[in-house]
Amino acid sequence: MCGITGYIGYRDAYPIIINGLKRLEYRGYDSAGVMLFDGTQINLSKTKGKVSVLEEKVNNEISNKGVIGIGHTRWATHGVPNDVNSHPHISQSGNLVIVHNGIIENYNTLKQELKTRGYTFKSDTDTEVLINLIEEIKTEHNVKLGKAVQIALNQVVGAYAIAVFDKTNPDEIVVARLGSPIAIGVGKDLKEFFIASDASPFIEYTKDAIYLEDEEMAIICQGKEVKVRKIKDDTLVDTDVQELQMNLEQIEKGGYEHFMLKEIYEQPRAIIDTYRGRLLREKGIIKMSGVEDNMGKFLNAERIVIVACGTSWHAALVAEYLFEDFARIPVEVEYASEFRYRNPVLTEKDIVIAISQSGETADTLAAIKLAKERGAFVFGVCNVVGSSIARETHAGAYTHAGPEIGVASTKAFTTQITVLSLMALRLARAKGTMSSSKYRHYLQELELIPQKVESLLKVDDHIKEIAKKYMLSNNCLYLGRGYNFPVALEGALKLKEISYIHAEGYPAAEMKHGPIALIDDRMPVIVIATSKGHYDKVVSNIQEIKSRSGKIIAVVTEGDTIVREIADHVIEVPETEEAFTPLLTTIPLQLLSYHIAVMRNCNVDQPRNLAKSVTVE
Ligand code: AGP
Ligand code: GLU
Repeated sequence: MCGITGYIGYRDAYPIIINGLKRLEYRGYDSAGVMLFDGTQINLSKTKGKVSVLEEKVNNEISNKGVIGIGHTRWATHGVPNDVNSHPHISQSGNLVIVHNGIIENYNTLKQELKTRGYTFKSDTDTEVLINLIEEIKTEHNVKLGKAVQIALNQVVGAYAIAVFDKTNPDEIVVARLGSPIAIGVGKDLKEFFIASDASPFIEYTKDAIYLEDEEMAIICQGKEVKVRKIKDDTLVDTDVQELQMNLEQIEKGGYEHFMLKEIYEQPRAIIDTYRGRLLREKGIIKMSGVEDNMGKFLNAERIVIVACGTSWHAALVAEYLFEDFARIPVEVEYASEFRYRNPVLTEKDIVIAISQSGETADTLAAIKLAKERGAFVFGVCNVVGSSIARETHAGAYTHAGPEIGVASTKAFTTQITVLSLMALRLARAKGTMSSSKYRHYLQELELIPQKVESLLKVDDHIKEIAKKYMLSNNCLYLGRGYNFPVALEGALKLKEISYIHAEGYPAAEMKHGPIALIDDRMPVIVIATSKGHYDKVVSNIQEIKSRSGKIIAVVTEGDTIVREIADHVIEVPETEEAFTPLLTTIPLQLLSYHIAVMRNCNVDQPRNLAKSVTVE
């Protein structure tokens, strides 16, 4: 977690760094800091709070001149968010400066050792230990910064992306990664370089980027080609300069009040982008190269195990229904964080699918590594191109949602379901578990989803009215069955993460085994009761809630009359096949959470305590 950015070149570094930090703020936002080198001295400013607080502090406190600098926006792991624990951290001599994303697990042992050598520490962070370790090595071995960083990292256990600066050799910045991402933007004629946790901070300056792989480092120096080396043994690695596909418009709010709202509204386009070139309805086929190339493995699979976290885990639950229903392959869905520490039984006949928007989630990455060790074939479903998970998996399929900045995942979820639906259908055809007429019908239905989402977005005002009535609730229950059980979980997660209202998702029929005790006239219950699936049973559940004075907000299929009679509020979604209803029923739940959170004055895009990509355990 956390965002790193840096610049070395001929322009003023400060505006590039501060704007970069704003774009990276989704990664962590409890504190922020910047270091600028003005040619003679280091100017450093850091503070608890958002990047906007830092901006003010810099204006009042330091000179913002200089063509070299590094910046950081933090999500604390070691030490509370305060000014002292904020990054950058400076070494004891005052010469070395570091920004760090990740955790140094053996920091305590290293700290004790450094203390015996006379080092004192101002902060509680693991990062300050690392910069002093680098300094100690640099002095002891009488080496330059790059070498000292390399030796130090070979003594470190944990995860990191770092950028380090040395005042005594101020023409370079040393970067390294293990487990946390780092990208280097290469400017024209090597006259400038940009450093960032993802490419968004430098997208308007260059489209050429180098992504470091795990256990790699580089010394970045104006006018010199970037040479990437292995941290372990210093061997040179082929440097792969990639062309970025992202554009500036995608990472700006585009007139919306919040990124989350923009991303909700982007869903019709995002779903189309995700199935474009894959769903070829006229030809009656689905083409997905990651699946085609490994069809033998998929056809022989005895089981699919899906690993993911959070919203991506909810998409995995939808996939469980899809794969079993369409392709008759048994599926197990696992929290990546549990799977990685169990002793899972896996064989070469198992396929592990890892789902992740960011492609950087530490638990999912660790689960993938474990699955690979045990011989399973691992397939990734990621949104961020070139991310760690995308690279670590044997094959995969990208969702083409575009950058998702709001911490609450929205378009990532619906595009994940789109990819998983395409995969399930493709495999159903290959296995012969679905007739060709049904298959064609499903292709047609899936193709129509974006326009149905579009029409659903038009009922936003109605949802806002409902939000007004329930914005002060303390608790909320979400119920759904079958394909819509995961949607109930997702609806509850959306509400709790951005509005801080306690919410629970349940399979509707489980209500009578406990949660029904919670129902009273102050309990809003959001029930997904679309016409296909277990409609009558869900209607009975609604009756049971009404008999206990619960308030019902029902998500129903257009034209429904039965639930309308009983429920306090209804939100209609267009008709579709049951398997695709999650792509529609999710939308009003996203909007409901969004409006409630806005009405409660919550920071929708950056909810408290959270970060967009969880790159620590
Ligand atoms: C979703 O709204 C969350 N903020 C969170 O649960 C997220 O889905 C989870 O951290 C997994 O992230 P990933 O998809 O990037 O792996
Ligand atoms: N472990 C470091 C800290 O707590 C870095 C955390 C981060 O990735 O933001 O300061």
